[in-house]
Amino acid sequence: MHGSAPSVAVVGAGVIGLSTARELHRRGWRVQVYDEKPASGASHAAAGMLAPAAETVWDQHALYPMLSESASLYPEFAATLEQESGRRVGYLETGTVVVGAEAGDRAELDELAALQQQLGHPAERLTPSAARHLEPALAPQLAGAVHLPQDHQVNPRRLTAALLQVLEDARILVRENVTGLQTVGGRTTGVRLAGGEVRPADQVVLCTGTASVPGSPPSQVRPVYGDILRLRLPAGRPRLIERIIRGLVRGRSVYIVPREDEELVVGATSREDGDPQPSTEGVLRLLTDARRLLPGIVDTQLVEVTARARPGSPDDLPVIQRHDPGLVSANGFFRHGVLLTPWGARETANLVENTSDQEGN
Ligand code: GLY
Repeated sequence: MHGSAPSVAVVGAGVIGLSTARELHRRGWRVQVYDEKPASGASHAAAGMLAPAAETVWDQHALYPMLSESASLYPEFAATLEQESGRRVGYLETGTVVVGAEAGDRAELDELAALQQQLGHPAERLTPSAARHLEPALAPQLAGAVHLPQDHQVNPRRLTAALLQVLEDARILVRENVTGLQTVGGRTTGVRLAGGEVRPADQVVLCTGTASVPGSPPSQVRPVYGDILRLRLPAGRPRLIERIIRGLVRGRSVYIVPREDEELVVGATSREDGDPQPSTEGVLRLLTDARRLLPGIVDTQLVEVTARARPGSPDDLPVIQRHDPGLVSANGFFRHGVLLTPWGARETANLVENTSDQEGN
């Protein structure tokens, strides 16, 4: 890195801020990332399903091209990050089985399978017994299933640890919050820290999720809280499942993600009640629905209950935009921040480098 390289201040060290910082660092920018508590927001809670297929049916179809492209970038993203950081990120291509619990849940499975065929994404309809052949711990009484072999997973906590390692090795992580923006003649020229110190930067990138920096442009992001559980198999117990199980139980969705290290992640509720604490009703609902699909989960230890806010935009699509010649924001990644990480980092870095687009959009 030489002194004449342009400088960028990335505000917020969730998965999008961290990966954008790493991307700009790789492109030769002088980077500083600011966050008092890196990787402690939505990315700390996330299950890490890389599920363009399964997420599309339960969300907006406009998302699919972004989700699908980002999923295709993942193998290389994970491999290069592992190489740079010396840490594993838990990228697994073991696939996903979507199951319907009751007869009434079959219609949504039909819709899922039809949509996947239309999108050219492999999806195999399975009878309940074929699903149990793949995953013998599934409940005996199920209405049907779809196998999505291309819906994979990464471990978000390992992913952010690897990104932090890269940034810490490069000495570009500042464990302080930004308290304001410095502007000169309508152009953002740096960030202000709590003690009043100003750190100049050619470009500032806001990746603050549901938080905001005083004086920054108004954000339309809303907090969509999710409760999520971490379960652990007692020592010596055989693994319950190899693939991600997503399910519908009387129309309610639940997922169970098996990690390499015997952890099972069960999620997630979706609440817009403004309450950052875990919901008792939500936890009860997740455990009840997960047990309906996988009775053996009652024999696990409940090791963690977490609630965090997903940053949802008005149309639930990510918003990467330029606000002034020195200011860009990347936000609204909603349920898809982990899946959209390689795509989001690339697109945000491209916009940071595109300083000719200075009128905003
Ligand atoms: N990406 C899954 C969720 O937000 O629950």
